[in-house]
Amino acid sequence: QQLQGHVSIILLGATGDLAKKYLWQGLFQLYLDEAGKGHSFRFHGTALTSTEQGQEVIAKVLESLSCPSNTAPSRCAELKAQFQQLSEYRRLKTPEDYLALSKDIEAQVQHEGLREAGRIFYLSVPPFAYADIARNINSSCRPGPGAWLRVVLEKPFGHDHHSAQQLAAELGSFFQEEEMYRVDHYLGKQVVAQILPFRDQNRKALDGLWNRHHVERVEIIMKETVDTAGRTSFYEEYGVIRDVIQNHLTEILTLVAMELPGNVSSPEAVLQHKLQAFRALRGLQKSSAVVGQYQAYSRQVRRELQKPDSFHSLTPTFAGILVHVDNLRWEGVPFILMSGKALDERVSYARVLFKNQAYCAQSERRWEAEQSQCLPRQVIFYIGHGELGSPAVLVSRNLFRPSLPSASWWEVTDRPGLHLFGRPLSDFYAYSPVREQDAYSILISHIFHHRKDSFVTTENLLASWVFWTPLLESLAREVPRLYPGGAENGPVLDFEFSSNRLSFSQPPPEQVVPGPGS
Ligand code: BG6
Repeated sequence: QQLQGHVSIILLGATGDLAKKYLWQGLFQLYLDEAGKGHSFRFHGTALTSTEQGQEVIAKVLESLSCPSNTAPSRCAELKAQFQQLSEYRRLKTPEDYLALSKDIEAQVQHEGLREAGRIFYLSVPPFAYADIARNINSSCRPGPGAWLRVVLEKPFGHDHHSAQQLAAELGSFFQEEEMYRVDHYLGKQVVAQILPFRDQNRKALDGLWNRHHVERVEIIMKETVDTAGRTSFYEEYGVIRDVIQNHLTEILTLVAMELPGNVSSPEAVLQHKLQAFRALRGLQKSSAVVGQYQAYSRQVRRELQKPDSFHSLTPTFAGILVHVDNLRWEGVPFILMSGKALDERVSYARVLFKNQAYCAQSERRWEAEQSQCLPRQVIFYIGHGELGSPAVLVSRNLFRPSLPSASWWEVTDRPGLHLFGRPLSDFYAYSPVREQDAYSILISHIFHHRKDSFVTTENLLASWVFWTPLLESLAREVPRLYPGGAENGPVLDFEFSSNRLSFSQPPPEQVVPGPGS
């Protein structure tokens, strides 16, 4: 195919952890998927590190890239060599550096005899560096007329509503909304990206079910086994709500709760409907949340932040939060968000639990519990890890047979002995992606294809902070309940939900499996 344009991708923070672990691999994947389909590419890794040091790091990273599993080793070596040829490292610090980069890109475009299609700047750097970088891009490195600019930003996007507003205003003085791509990497997780298509493709079956008449509750859970070691100074400032609940879990909540637009492949329509869902979240009271902290946390803070022995942190490393969506569809349905560090297992999912038929709840009919129609009915977007080990969409067999894009999702049937949420796998229609793909590779492809609905707009970001900030303020002096932390230390923290209240369950925590009579 004839090439139409040149795309430059500039990765700032190219020698950092995120870049080494995911971003270079995502760029390589983009190259594998897109090269020869209409664009030529150049990848510019940049950082503040000296040229020699940076080149050394990048050379190692490029060497360690992996090809799709069905690639022959000799072919893989060839592809990596091609990618290496197109990649460089350079120090990018002063306005002159940005200008020189811009000139080099123009020269390259001319040399190839193409027009410039656009430039992607991926800022894998801490937010305090944003302002300088944004100024330099804007004044010295914008592409010429007719070519697009995309600037990719990594969280945290503020600490509360006020700081998020300030940061947004600052960025807004350099870039158009259209040009900014705020990453929430959970939106790139294969199963999260499947929530809307799944709802869309099963509109008929879900139309009458996805509402307060049929849904008992929704759980959005992200349990982690890791603690905060190595990043405690960041964590101490943020805590679990700011770190993962305000963003990852709230994004998932809105995807489950939002009204479906007529066309789910229209980014504008999706973003607008999502915004309405954010705005429908009912304001939280302090009593809507339970917060905890793993026992070793304060010790880690004292060590990593050199605090005195008397210091005890109030930062929560665990939170369970009860949320309501104030609209006709969801009135009265509890949405439970929960996340924590140093817990007993690593698993994340969004689970929609449907009400049991009235007769299933009556004890004299308990024998009917054995009948399939009384078993729990649920749709689970299983994001990953946990016992299943891989991402999947699960639908109780007594609910309906779902349809999923058949070419890219396969039905998982044979995992004898595996129980999920207290039920054998055979109780579910279960689908997993044929090819597991990392969230960052997916998001990088969506940036290239201008799929803005996979990113966080300024309006949606601020709407989320408007919702979370009052709760964060009211919890600021709350003493979190201590929990042992880690599976090896015995039972860890979990929540309990009854009489429309969230509380800590007493150890040992029991698995919450709604069943007949519950
Ligand atoms: C990040 C948080 O956004 O997400 C981390 O800052 C958390 O604290 C991580 O561990 C979890 O992401 P994943 O993809 O490993 O589930």
